[in-house]
Amino acid sequence: MASREQFSSRLGFVMAAAGSAVGLGNIWGFPTQTASNGGAAFVLVYFIMAFCLAYPALMAELIIGRHARANIVTALRGIAPNKPLRLAGTAVGLYGTLVASLILSFYGIVAGWMLAYLLESITAMFGWTGFSEWLLSFGLTRNLLFMGLFMLLTMGIIASGIAAGIERWSTRLMPLLLVIMVSLIVYVMTQKGALEGLKVYLLPDLEQIHPQLILDAMGQAFFSLSLGVGTMLVYGSYLSNEASLPRLGAAVTLVDAGIAFIAGLLIIPAIYVAKEHGANIFDASGELIAGPDLIFQVLPALFDSMGQVGLLVAFAFFTLMSIAALTSSISMLEVPVALATEETPASRRQATLVIGGLVFACSSLILLNFDTLFGFIITLTTVYSQPLLGLMLCVFAGWVWHRNSLLQAIQAGHPNIENTLFWKIWPHYVKYLCPVLILTTLVRSLTS
Ligand code: PHE
Repeated sequence: MASREQFSSRLGFVMAAAGSAVGLGNIWGFPTQTASNGGAAFVLVYFIMAFCLAYPALMAELIIGRHARANIVTALRGIAPNKPLRLAGTAVGLYGTLVASLILSFYGIVAGWMLAYLLESITAMFGWTGFSEWLLSFGLTRNLLFMGLFMLLTMGIIASGIAAGIERWSTRLMPLLLVIMVSLIVYVMTQKGALEGLKVYLLPDLEQIHPQLILDAMGQAFFSLSLGVGTMLVYGSYLSNEASLPRLGAAVTLVDAGIAFIAGLLIIPAIYVAKEHGANIFDASGELIAGPDLIFQVLPALFDSMGQVGLLVAFAFFTLMSIAALTSSISMLEVPVALATEETPASRRQATLVIGGLVFACSSLILLNFDTLFGFIITLTTVYSQPLLGLMLCVFAGWVWHRNSLLQAIQAGHPNIENTLFWKIWPHYVKYLCPVLILTTLVRSLTS
C-alpha cells in the first residue's frame, strides 16, 4: 500500500479540523438557536456543553483515529478485542459513514442556496433583474443546479487529497472567513438598533434555562464540532505522532466555540438593525424569527434597505456562508471516500467521483420530495444519529478499547500525559459521564 497521506503541519490540521467544525452550524445554527432559546442564557449553556461534553467526545475520535490511522470502520474494528465487538465496530462505523453522507446530502442543498444568493448579489449590482429573481426563487432547477455546483467544488477539493486539497483550501479559506466576519460585525455595530441586539445576546436571563434549552445546546455542540460521524476521527488519522492531541483538540474546540460566539455578535445585532429598518423580526407567537426565513428574508431585507452598500454587504455575507459550508462539506465527503480508498481497490479520484455522484443523487431525491424528506433527514441525522454515534464512540474509547493501549496512543506527542489533569479526568469522563449524559438527553428528546 502506498504510504498514507498526512497533514503537513499542526497548524494545517487545526485549520482543517476547525474548518470542518466551523460551518453553517456556527454562523446560522448557533445564532438562530440563541435567538429562539431566549438569548444569552443559551450562549452560556452552549459553552458549558462544548467544553465539558463535546471536547471529551472529540478527543475520543481524535485518539482512536490517530492510533488506527484509518477510516472509522477499519478503526473501530481494529480496536475491538474479539469477534462480536469487531462486528459491532464495523456496524457502528458503517452507520457513521452513512450518516456523514446523509448530512452532506442536505448540507449541499442549503450550501447551494448560499451560492445562489451569492451570485444574486452580483447580478443585482449589474441590474439584471430577471436573472436575480430567478436566483432568489425557490425553483427545482435552481436548487438542483446550485446543489450540483457545490458538490462539484467539494469533490474537486477531496479528489486532490489531504495536504493538497483539504489542508490547502482550509488554510486559505479560514482566515478569509474570519476577516469577512469581523468586517461585517464592525459595519453592523455602527448601525442603529445593533446595541439592543447586543444586549439580548450578552446579558443572560438565567430563568430561561430549562430542559429543552439544555437539550438544544447539547445537540448544537455535537453538530458544531462535527462529532459522531467519523469526520474528526479521519482527520485525526492524518495527524503525525509528534502532535499532542489534548492540545490540538482544545485548540479546535476553542476556535469552533469562538467563531460561533463571534457569529452571534454579527447575526443577533443584525436582526435588530433590520427591525430598525422596518423588517418584521418576530413571528406570530412573538418569538424571534429563526430558521431559513432569517437568512433568506430578514437579512436580505436589511441588505436591500441599505442601498448600494447593501449589495456589497450581501456579497460579503453570502461569501462567508459559502466558505463556511465548503470547509465543512469536504470533511463530510472525506469519511466515505477514506473508507472506499482503504477498503476497496478504488483510487481517490474514482472513489470521490462515485460517492460524490451517489450523494448528488440523494440530494436530488430530497429536492424532488422536499416537503417530506428535507426536515426528516435533518432530524434523523443531527438530532438522533449524531448523539447516538457520539455515545457509541465514547463506549468504544472507554469500554471496548484496552486502557493501556489507549494510554499509549495518547502518549505519542504528549509523553508525560499520565501525570496531567487530562489523564486523571478524561478516561472516566468518556467512560461514564459522557454516555450517561448523552443517553439522558436522547431519551428525553424521544419522550418529550
Ligand atoms: N460542524 C459543521 C457545522 O457546524 C457540520 C458538520 C457536521 C460537519 C458533521 C461535519 C460533520 O456546520
